[in-house]
Amino acid sequence: MVGRRLTEPRRRPGVPVARVLGCGLLVLLAGCTEGAPSTLDPAGTGARRVAGFWWLLFGISAAVFVVVMALLTWALAFRRRPHRRAGATDPIRFVVVAGAGVPFVVLLAVYGVGLRDLAALGQPTEPPAVTVDVTGHKWWWEVRYPGVAGATANEIHIPVGEPVRVRLRTVDVLHSFWVPQLMPKTDLIAGKVRETWLRAERPGRYRGQCAEYCGLQHAHMAFQVVAQPRAEFDAWLARLAAPAPAPASDAERRGQQAFLQGTCAACHTVRGTSATGTVGPDLSTIGARWSLGAGAVPNDGGHLGGWIVNSQTVKPGNAMPPQPVDAAALPDLIAYLESLR
Ligand code: CUA
Repeated sequence: MVGRRLTEPRRRPGVPVARVLGCGLLVLLAGCTEGAPSTLDPAGTGARRVAGFWWLLFGISAAVFVVVMALLTWALAFRRRPHRRAGATDPIRFVVVAGAGVPFVVLLAVYGVGLRDLAALGQPTEPPAVTVDVTGHKWWWEVRYPGVAGATANEIHIPVGEPVRVRLRTVDVLHSFWVPQLMPKTDLIAGKVRETWLRAERPGRYRGQCAEYCGLQHAHMAFQVVAQPRAEFDAWLARLAAPAPAPASDAERRGQQAFLQGTCAACHTVRGTSATGTVGPDLSTIGARWSLGAGAVPNDGGHLGGWIVNSQTVKPGNAMPPQPVDAAALPDLIAYLESLR
């Protein structure tokens, strides 16, 4: 036996543990891609509450783990002692208290805190000063402000530090409105108006995502919440309410003509022109938006051209068919759309 032990290759017990930890770390780091928001990096009142609850659960779990491991170590260290010492804890009472009583009290407390947080998430402490109407489409978000004529898409501007009511509708299937850094999810249900609210603590752009599988392009149903100081927000809203700017150059003028005479105007609105289509997003401020196709591609001239000619190669299944645009007219069309801001 001794001889065999000497000739056996030495086992390295640390290696499997290191591998497991390494793989775990890789999985964690894979989540750290740029632009991927985390609920544990809250920037809004609602998300901060949820993050606080998460840390509470984590703290309790860690404490329970440490206590159980300590007891296990103690039990293993002393397991060979044949006799109970005088004055030792009665094992049945120990199991009842530590195995049932303590978890019951802890879970009850957590349940209480959860109910309190749930109630607090229901509505903001002060009445919202701004309301936004958000409508889910396959696969983009229509954004309107009651009393304001214009509309935008996949971009929700809000004043920072103020609670904002968000009314949610869907025109087709189930979607879910989720801004991880600001607020937990709210599902959009056909035939119902759901409500949630947002309150951003600091200015910035916060990525939102449809969180309910809604078909082929569910992953490309992103949006941004832009939290800005009140004056900036008011200026932005005033711009949204105004007609689109008139073309300022010959190229833009030719582009506008191509837009209005082609098929674009049948599905899109550009306020102040004869384009009043409502199938696709309102394009009156398209030039200023953060992306094309609800986060599918960046909003720049190249991607815009590609999108116009055949958006099916970018976002297969979306409602816009390939467009028979004359190659010579395409740069003008791009110039015109980029001027709408
Ligand atoms: Cu809309 Cu997923």
